[in-house]
Order: sequence, then C-alpha cells, then structure tokens
Amino acid sequence: MTTTPMTVEAARALMHEWVESDSLRGHMEAVAACMAHHARLHAPGEVEAWTIAGLLHDVDYEKHPTPEEHPTVGVAHLRSLGVDETILDAIMGHAPYTGVARTTPMARHLFACDELAGFIVAVAKVRPDGLSGLTAKSVRKKLKDKAFAAAVSRADIAEGVADLVADGCVADETEHIDRCIAALQG
Ligand SMILES: [Fe+2]
Repeated sequence: MTTTPMTVEAARALMHEWVESDSLRGHMEAVAACMAHHARLHAPGEVEAWTIAGLLHDVDYEKHPTPEEHPTVGVAHLRSLGVDETILDAIMGHAPYTGVARTTPMARHLFACDELAGFIVAVAKVRPDGLSGLTAKSVRKKLKDKAFAAAVSRADIAEGVADLVADGCVADETEHIDRCIAALQG
C-alpha cells in the first residue's frame, strides 16, 4: 500500500503554487483524472496516491522545463515534503530520459496516460461536441495523422499501451483509450 502524508487537496494547492499556466494545470488535472479512473480498476486502495502522481508529474515543468531539471527538481522538492517514493519513482519514470525504470503499476499507468490524455484533450478541442460522444476510433484515426498535435509522441503512447497490455491491464490500445476518454468525460 502506498501511503503519503500529502493529500489530493495539498497536491493540487502545491501544483497551483508552482504552475500558473491554465493549460499545464489542465493537463495535470486530466492525467490525474485518468490515473484515478485506472486506480479504481487496478489498485482501489491507491486512488489518492495515483491521483497525486497525476497532479504533480509536471509540477516543475513551467519553472524548470529542461531535461536537466524536469522532473528532478520537482521530485527533490516533493521528497523534502515526505511524498512517498513510489509516487516519486513514477514521476521520474514518466520522463524516459531519466532512465528510471517504470516498475510499478502506478508508474506504468502514469506513462501510459500522460501523452494520451494530452492527445485526447487536443482531439476534443477540434470537435464541436468536445469530449461528449468521442470514441477511441476517432482518437486512433487522429493518432495516425502525424500532422495533428505533432508534438505528442506516438511512440511514447504505443510504448505505454504495450506495457499495460503486457501487464494484463488492458486488452489493447482501444480499451486503454476508451478508459481514458471515460475518465476525462467524468
Ligand atoms: Fe504530462
């Protein structure tokens, strides 16, 4: 069981203290919503910890965006606050260049939700109905369109999904996308 002295409310307050950008705040909320949804399915005792990982994974990105500093600076600060090492490892592992292996379900889900949540939000933005009625099929179609949201790494999304499939958490990419859409709709 992952325990942390930090609550979801405290994590959100800290994130607001470090991040001014509405879009970056919204991104972390989106990833947190996905993480909470997945935790309810795979780790019901850890919903709060998984949510906190989502809320804080890019906490230092606005102030320290370079690979030399992100997410190391944020993680060092969170460690000083006593945040659980499982959460810190997951945050380190979401940035592939840190070389920190994603060994826990929390870390593997964080990586699998990060880019995908951003991508789903981007797809919703160009639809008249936004998230409502959005299907995995339309998301997958947009993933194949390399010009759309070009900054989103398709390779990272594929790698994240492959890990979850290997772990038996989802059958395939469609199921994972469906779950993330459902999380974001909620
Ligand atoms: Fe992120």
